[in-house]
Amino acid sequence: MRKKVIAGNWKMNKVSNEADQFIDDIAGKVPNDDNVEAIVCAPFPFLKSLVEKTNGTSVKIGAQNMHFEESGAFTGEVSPVMLNDLGVTHVVLGHSERREHFAETNETVNKKAHAAFKHQLTPIVCVGETLDQREANETMDHIEQQVREGLAGLPDEQIAQTIVAYEPIWAIGTGKTASSEDANEVCTHIRNVLKDATSEEVAEKVVIQYGGSVKPANVDELLAQSDIDGALVGGASLEADSFLKLVEAGT
Ligand code: G3P
Repeated sequence: MRKKVIAGNWKMNKVSNEADQFIDDIAGKVPNDDNVEAIVCAPFPFLKSLVEKTNGTSVKIGAQNMHFEESGAFTGEVSPVMLNDLGVTHVVLGHSERREHFAETNETVNKKAHAAFKHQLTPIVCVGETLDQREANETMDHIEQQVREGLAGLPDEQIAQTIVAYEPIWAIGTGKTASSEDANEVCTHIRNVLKDATSEEVAEKVVIQYGGSVKPANVDELLAQSDIDGALVGGASLEADSFLKLVEAGT
């Protein structure tokens, strides 16, 4: 049985004292439960402090991006070596905002996924279609291509540990959630693509999250679906109370 993974993606929000305060507010309240994992994916400047503050708790800290190179002349970039050195455990890769504004491609996501595993980071690989693609009936093909190209060349044991986040772009920050059945249909498709690329045994281990206007009011219905194993949450992860409710829903 797969555990539920609730990850907050703060995006480019908060300043350092607000970030620290959030952890103080959730400390001791996140259940230590084998069935659920809570991850906070924060901006780079807060990572060190958040890792220190969550030490000894069941909350994990993730980054929202990284470069695939280990070091060198890449001004402004952050490497997997640096994240691992800080004690970060997860990294979001290929979020649609990075694909749209920072020219991320399936190829760069793939290089980053390989680099993440090399440095003991669990990648949360984001995939999702635009509204135009959905209306043109291209969702399934587009998602299949993102999954296959994003995870290409990873050995089965790494694919089994990868978290895939299905985030329809039209549902991000819009208040429009995909219906839980529609979301599950795509998540099932992702698992079938993974089965085809690896094996049933491997694909059944992969945690597949849904993301896009997830909030305490709709999380139960989404998590009740057969192939939705968690949520990647933007807006509703910024407040401690709301984040705790989301994690609670996974228990
Ligand atoms: O990565 C999470 C995300 O893109 C969804 O954002 O604000 O719709 O929950 P939001």
